[in-house]
Amino acid sequence: MSELVRFSVAVPEDLLVQFDTLVARRGIAKNRSEVIRDLVRDALVNEEWDDPMQEIVGTLTLVFNHHSSDLQSKLDQLQHNHHEQIISSMHIHLDAHNCLEVIVLKGRSDNIRQLAESILGVKGVKHGQLSTTTTGKFL
Ligand code: NI
Repeated sequence: MSELVRFSVAVPEDLLVQFDTLVARRGIAKNRSEVIRDLVRDALVNEEWDDPMQEIVGTLTLVFNHHSSDLQSKLDQLQHNHHEQIISSMHIHLDAHNCLEVIVLKGRSDNIRQLAESILGVKGVKHGQLSTTTTGKFL
């Protein structure tokens, strides 16, 4: 981690009051500086994802009924076709019918978004969400 640098920021008082409420919600381990650093990193991660050529990491969570026609084989086929971008996955049998899968994806952000949309677009997927994060090398 590089050296810490202090800087001052001017903000409207009511915005600062709301910010301090956010800081308090994050618990005693986080102070104003820590939360500002978190927010800056969030903004930088969003920028990484906005650059289609940038290598990023994300997780895709999906819930589906494994009895749905050929859903499982379609999901398997998609994942095998993109094995370079899928670095890990976890399958949980939620109950007699429903499965939850968490897929860790790494690659160019445009390819990862497209792959996530393809997986979520398989008929029978009940719910899913792509969570975007970072390899960390720019932070
Ligand atoms: Ni299952």
